[in-house]
Amino acid sequence: FSADIISTVEFNHTGELLATGDKGGRVVIFQREQESKNQPHRRGEYNVYSTFQSHEPEFDYLKSLEIEEKINKIRWLPQQNAAYFLLSTNDKTVKLWKVSERDKRPEGYNLKDEDGRLRDPSMITMLRVPVLRPMDLMVEATPRRVFANAHTYHINSISVNSDYETYMSADDLRINLWNFEITNQSFNIVDIKPANMEELTEVITAAEFHPHHCNTFVYSSSKGTIRLCDMRAAALCDRHSKFFEEPEDPSNRSFFSEIISSISDVKFSHSGRYIMTRDYLTVKVWDLNMENRPIETYQVHDYLRSKLCSLYENDCIFDKFECVWNGSDSVIMTGSYNNFFRMFDRNTKRDVTLEASRENSKPRAILKPRKVCVGGKRRKDEISVDSLDFSKKILHTAWHPSENIIAVAATNNLYIFQDKVN
Ligand SMILES: *[C@@H]1O[C@H](CO)[C@@H](O)[C@H](O)[C@H]1NC(C)=O
Ligand SMILES: *[C@@H]1O[C@H](CO)[C@@H](O)[C@H](O)[C@H]1NC(C)=O
Ligand SMILES: *[C@@H]1O[C@H](CO)[C@@H](O)[C@H](O)[C@H]1NC(C)=O
Ligand SMILES: *[C@@H]1O[C@H](CO)[C@@H](O)[C@H](O)[C@H]1NC(C)=O
Repeated sequence: FSADIISTVEFNHTGELLATGDKGGRVVIFQREQESKNQPHRRGEYNVYSTFQSHEPEFDYLKSLEIEEKINKIRWLPQQNAAYFLLSTNDKTVKLWKVSERDKRPEGYNLKDEDGRLRDPSMITMLRVPVLRPMDLMVEATPRRVFANAHTYHINSISVNSDYETYMSADDLRINLWNFEITNQSFNIVDIKPANMEELTEVITAAEFHPHHCNTFVYSSSKGTIRLCDMRAAALCDRHSKFFEEPEDPSNRSFFSEIISSISDVKFSHSGRYIMTRDYLTVKVWDLNMENRPIETYQVHDYLRSKLCSLYENDCIFDKFECVWNGSDSVIMTGSYNNFFRMFDRNTKRDVTLEASRENSKPRAILKPRKVCVGGKRRKDEISVDSLDFSKKILHTAWHPSENIIAVAATNNLYIFQDKVN
């Protein structure tokens, strides 16, 4: 079912919880089992912890537009008490959810019975003292805040600030800053909407706060550029403080150049020193101190360069692939087609193509590297470019913050792969 297509995947800050959002507006949270003492060689597996409907389809009567319930992004807040908090967003509305456990329930009300029905007052002859009785563990999700009516265009990113009091939401043309406590007001911090929409040449594609400096954030654009903004410089950050762009190689210029240079994701490294961007064919790593070119460029699927025409015709060229760092910023992961995903080791410069499939997800199965063959003779185990399945795309992946555990969303399947112990 298309409602089951996973549209975002996100670990919490310690990796014990993993949340997914789907096209049907649902959020599913997985929790890692405690490691069992009897089976010390088995790492804790992730099991469903809570499932809830975060967004519903809506209709915008003013514009006669359907608003999809699809969850575009989920971001966890750091845990502060027994409950967990996360933000989820569709195209228009961000919601703050509280997820909490309950294992006791009050019993012995005076005015109502155990099912909540009011008791006949004439039958109440004595006062009871309500008590808490243990019950099966229940996980409840409750919407705590709804941040609506601030976006005219589609929200593509949300990012929690390191001050943990504010977050931002970005759409095609604007970025808003919110306080978690205030839902009826947000501050517009970036606005690139031209006075005349016919002059529109560029849209915002992704945005993220710096992991440690609460005044700094970046946003990427459909023209392949990244802007770093400092909120201390001015309230409206229309003037960036840094501008990252790689001059185009004129020999590679084609009809598709602008489309394939559009950035689909931007991520700060955990250290805050680098930013990573994903465009259609590559992943790039930029040093915050060098604006004129990336320090590293990795080819994700360069063999598609000769297929851009058909990828344009079937709209695949507009797919928005995300990218992630591993916990130590030494490895990069991003998706491709045919349920393939790629890893690049920044130190050894080695790269690998892996496949998310049922076969590989059996317990103790080992992920075998895959190879795509370009022209010439195809060796055993290789797959030819022409037989790649472009309907199987890996757009969303997540890497555990401190261990080698990855979550890969392949259409409506979630795969979790982890390192072997010893
Ligand atoms: C992540 O989730 C686990 C719950 O299993 C919790 O114990 C932990 O505190 C969470 N981490 C953060 C940083 O919120
Ligand atoms: C937002 O709501 C608060 C509390 O209801 C109110 O005091 C404040 O004036 C409102 N702000 C705006 C901009 O409507
Ligand atoms: C130009 O194309 C070649 C392959 O056709 C590729 O290896 C190279 O990275 C491209 N240059 C740029 C700047 O994208
Ligand atoms: C990725 O980062 C994690 C956490 O720092 C580290 O344990 C792991 O070895 C790294 N993975 C690789 C393949 O280097």
